[in-house]
Amino acid sequence: MADEKALFLVNIGQLLTLRSSSAGPRRGPELKQLGMVKEGAILCAGGKIVSVGTTKDALRDPWLKKNRKKITELDCSNHVVMPGFVDSHTHPAFLGPRLGDFERRIAGASYQAIGDGGGGIRSSVHAVREATKAELAGQVLSALNQMAGQGTTTVEAKSGYGLNLESELKSLEAIRQASFEWPGTVIATCLGAHVVPQEYQGRSHKYVELVCKKMIPEVARRNLAVFVDVFADRGGFTTEDTEKIFESATKHGLGVRAHVCQFAECVLWPLLEYHPASFDHMDHVMAEDIPQLAKHDTVATLVPGANYFLGLEEFPPARTLIDRGVPVALATDYNPGSSPTLSMPFILSLACTQMKMSPAEAIATATINGAHALRLADRKGSIEPGKDADLAIFDVDDFREIPYWFAANRCAFTILNGAVSVNTYRMAFGAPRPA
Ligand code: NIG
Ligand code: FE
Repeated sequence: MADEKALFLVNIGQLLTLRSSSAGPRRGPELKQLGMVKEGAILCAGGKIVSVGTTKDALRDPWLKKNRKKITELDCSNHVVMPGFVDSHTHPAFLGPRLGDFERRIAGASYQAIGDGGGGIRSSVHAVREATKAELAGQVLSALNQMAGQGTTTVEAKSGYGLNLESELKSLEAIRQASFEWPGTVIATCLGAHVVPQEYQGRSHKYVELVCKKMIPEVARRNLAVFVDVFADRGGFTTEDTEKIFESATKHGLGVRAHVCQFAECVLWPLLEYHPASFDHMDHVMAEDIPQLAKHDTVATLVPGANYFLGLEEFPPARTLIDRGVPVALATDYNPGSSPTLSMPFILSLACTQMKMSPAEAIATATINGAHALRLADRKGSIEPGKDADLAIFDVDDFREIPYWFAANRCAFTILNGAVSVNTYRMAFGAPRPA
């Protein structure tokens, strides 16, 4: 859904291009390189970035001089422009919050005890099975719009609350329907292996068989997802189950990724054979797996919103992973049980204060490395000619303010594949606006 009219952003105080010469995901010191242009300008047309440079140079360009009246000009009032966030881990296909779980946890119950007692993921399943595709699509679209309001332009969206063939397909169709109505980019993931559904208790192998032999082939046949995900952790699926599911996904041409090491240590090396795009959570990653991970392009996607919301004292070991060369990304893990947030700026703030990532590292991991975690880095995650016109404009003077003003929304407007989406709340407070 590209905006046909060319867009010209001028007077950008700090333009974070995130451009670099490194091919794969960013590691170690590369995460600090934001490719900043001061007093920058960007020209976009047909949903793509055409040129990037300084406002002074752009205004001297003969083509721009001649065509200035024909293009939409956005005066960025010396504020910050960066690539739109790539939220590479979300679970938006659900209906309603889990407020009982929230209260039980505040009273001292753990996430797992709540799940074992009939709450948790399984308690979101009933509503999803009962819902129509249109109701689910409405929920997904509402989440996508709220994400765009906080600077996100690309979203990975998982199914995983249907837990049978019909409802997982319905969830993925709802994600697809919502993505048609949203100007940003959605990458769908089948998470049929989120948890073993109630009716398969005690015979999880039968459910794994359903996922491998029916769900994945049908998802692939209908082209409903790019990736298959597995919750490969305590309370979820074993490494052997995960290998079977990855085998089936690979056979059917789908990429793989997995939730690992959130609650317990997991053996990762057998799964690396399948070249997963990402391992997510990683709280309890084993020290001996780190050198292996540093040699692979599998991105460690850290989701500190879950640690925050579950009230955990420990956060994912970002410093160890970054300092030892593992490519890291940040994402919201938006879901009703462990991370009901749509805000990437809040996740960046958590990364800085709780995981000791620098603001620059937080931005790089939430943009270009998020794009790598979705295998989209040729189109997303940096502001370079030829890439998709996905931009976030923040009304701050310094990029470090994005994680600094926590729980505030400083995003003024977002450009998604060339289409401008104005954050109306910010506009009321005098944020820069399209001319
Ligand atoms: O990534 N436990 C795994 N999946 C989600 C939580 C889903 C839920 O509780 O609804 C996670 O944290
Ligand atoms: Fe998750």
